[in-house]
Formats: sequence, C-alpha cells, structure tokens
Amino acid sequence: PKVVLAYSGGLDTSVILKWLVQKGYDVIAYVGNVGQNEDFEEIRQKALTTGASKVYVEDLREEFVTDFIFPAIQGNALYEGRYLLGTSLARPVIAKKQIEIAYQEGAEYVAHGATGKGNDQVRFELTYYALNPQIKVISPWKTREFLDQFQGRTDLLNYAEKMGIPVKATLKKPYSEDENLMHISHEAGILEDPMFRPAEDLFTLTVSPKNAPDQETIVEIEFKDGIPVKVTNQNDGTVKDSPLELFLYLNKLGGENGIGRMDMVENRYVGIKSRGVYETPGATILREAHLDLEGIAMDKEVMHLRDMLMPKFAELIYNGYWFSPEMDFLLSAIRKAQEAIDGTVMLSLYKGNVLSVGRKSPTSLYNKDLSSMDIEGGFKQEDSRGFININAVRLKAHNVVLREKMPY
Ligand code: ARG
Ligand code: SIN
Repeated sequence: PKVVLAYSGGLDTSVILKWLVQKGYDVIAYVGNVGQNEDFEEIRQKALTTGASKVYVEDLREEFVTDFIFPAIQGNALYEGRYLLGTSLARPVIAKKQIEIAYQEGAEYVAHGATGKGNDQVRFELTYYALNPQIKVISPWKTREFLDQFQGRTDLLNYAEKMGIPVKATLKKPYSEDENLMHISHEAGILEDPMFRPAEDLFTLTVSPKNAPDQETIVEIEFKDGIPVKVTNQNDGTVKDSPLELFLYLNKLGGENGIGRMDMVENRYVGIKSRGVYETPGATILREAHLDLEGIAMDKEVMHLRDMLMPKFAELIYNGYWFSPEMDFLLSAIRKAQEAIDGTVMLSLYKGNVLSVGRKSPTSLYNKDLSSMDIEGGFKQEDSRGFININAVRLKAHNVVLREKMPY
C-alpha cells in the first residue's frame, strides 16, 4: 500500500520512513518548503537513499504567507496573549498538500512524525480528515509496535546506524526545533526546566537586543484591506512589494534589530503545559503595524466585537481547526472587518522594540477637529451633559446599595 509521509529529513521522520518501508509500505516522501533553512536537494537524496519510492519537494512559501500568515495578521491572532502561532499556521499547509499528493498518487494512507503528546499530531490529522474523510492515517508515535521498538533517542540513533541512515552533526542540539518562514520554535530537552535560561547561541533568527544597532531603523508598511502590500525602509530606501518578499524582508529587519523573541509556558491542546522559546521577527512587526492602522481606520464597535473573537480565532489556529466550519465563519467576519483597513504605518525598530510612530489612511475615521482640545469642531460640548446624566441614572439608583458601605 502507498503512504504519503510528511518528511523533514531529520532523524525521526527518516527512521519512520525506513520503518514504513520495512513494514511493506510504498513510501512517497513529501517535503514541504515552508521557509525552513534547509538544503532541499540533500533532503530529497536522503529520502531516496532511505527507501522512498518517490519524493516531492514543493515550495509552499508563497501560499503559506498569503493564505495563512496574512489572514492571521488580519485577525491579530495571538495565543494566550503571547504566541504568534508560527508552527500552528504551517501544519495545515503541509497536511493539505499531503492530501493532494495522496489523491494524485492513489495513496490510501498519509503519515507524519509528530509525537502523541503534542499539538502537531492534532493539527496534521484534523486537517487530513477535514479534507479527505476516507483517508487512513499512520502515526508511528501512537503505534504500540513502534513505541516498543523505539523508547527514546538512542533507539532511533541505533536504528539509523544499523539501517545506514546518515545522521547529521547538527542533531547535537539538546532541544527540538521547528522552523518555517514565520518563526523558529525551540522546545524540549534542556528547555524543559522552565527556569533555565538558554544561552545566546540558541537563537538563530534574531540577534540579542544588546547587540542590535545603536541607530533605529524606520520602516513604513502599507496595507490594503488589512493585508501588507508594501514595505519601505526609510533609512536606505529599500522597497519590497510582493507578499513573500516583503515578509522575508521584515524578518531580516526584525532579526537584525533583535525583535520577536519570546519565552513562555503555554497550554497544549492535549492539556499538557509546555515551555517554548520563539523567534518571530517579521510577524511581530506586522502585528504591531496592523493593530496601529486599525486604530485610525477601524470602527470602534467592529473593533471591540472583533477583539472578543480574537482569542477564539487564535485558539482554533492553535488547536488545529484551520479547516473547520467555525473557522470559515470567523475568517469571513474578519475579512469583512478588514475591508477599509487601508493606509500606512511608520515604525521604529530599535534594540528589540517595535514602536509605531506615525500612521495615515485614505479611509481614516480620525477627525482632528472632533478630538482637538483647541476648537469645538462640530461637537456640541453641552450635549455631553445629557450623555453623562443619562448614563448616571443607573449608577445613582445603585447608590442605595453602595450607601451601606460608604455612608456619605
Ligand atoms: N509549541 C508550539 C506549537 O504548538 C511549537 C511546536 C513545535 N513543534 C515541533 N515539532 N517542534 O505551535
Ligand atoms: C510534537 O509533539 O511532535 C511536537 C510538539 C507539539 O506538537 O506540540
């Protein structure tokens, strides 16, 4: 039988590939390029030498940016107030492609290498089932036979050696990483002690704010319907105006200025608490810019209502429900709310900080005359007396209760 395996070239998925071959599967390796820093030709070769009958290496970066990252930015998605969801957003892109390839190849099975204790297994498998209810999933880390054979890393390494699977020296890192163009995550291993502060060499996408330039970088980001369309570096005049290019450029600027580091203990969907260290330079800048533009261009009540939905939006992304009816509902509401979020935000990037310092919008709702302290500007200040009086009616009534504690 044919199986399409999400293959990274790392130790786990290489062992899984071989294990599937030995169990008699015809393994098609699927390598999704979502922006991880890898030699994809080397991974292709490794899949073939490990026993894959066919390898797909696909560049998913553009789709990842436009169809997943940008909608998340439009909705200001943030999990538990801190995590920008870099891994969570990449899983459905990869899983969706596996399902497409399985269809093309007439494969009955798909497989992935995520453990049975984490979020990724849920994201992969919910996406598989949502897109093809008939698909059969092989998940070795939830298979007794596999678990009995491989109790830990040493078993994987021994098996790899026995089977002639090359193990890269970079595997020496004493923690697990997941990288894509939105972020890199570091977790497990030495990071399992939540009080342990990792050394500087853990960070790969950002410099330490301490070592960032002493001069601020000023950038302008232009949005159309809440989607970034142009980035201009005011220091040197660089302009980027295609989705992938501008996102990669913001990563570069953010990384150079030490922006987007975050270290937290988060709640996994399965109920386990987990410590993660993240670097998300570009998206950290974009989220700030987008929020700032909404300040000038978004209606107050729409904003406040949307703000109530944001934690749910983030939770759905985190928990693996990108392809779900509730997500379709939320995404269409978010898109509607973004219709006139147009304009430009000026930001200062400086030693780990991203600060909005100016904004303008052709669909601005800001009325200088109305907010001015210097002129009346068409706002009848006498009317505010009635506004306050009527809002005070209820509070005056409640005073009957308050008086018992404060008798004046
Ligand atoms: N904790 C993050 C999340 O659930 C990152 C997961 C990283 N995955 C990995 N296979 N290392 O989104
Ligand atoms: C894994 O369990 O494979 C990685 C961590 C996670 O998915 O939460």
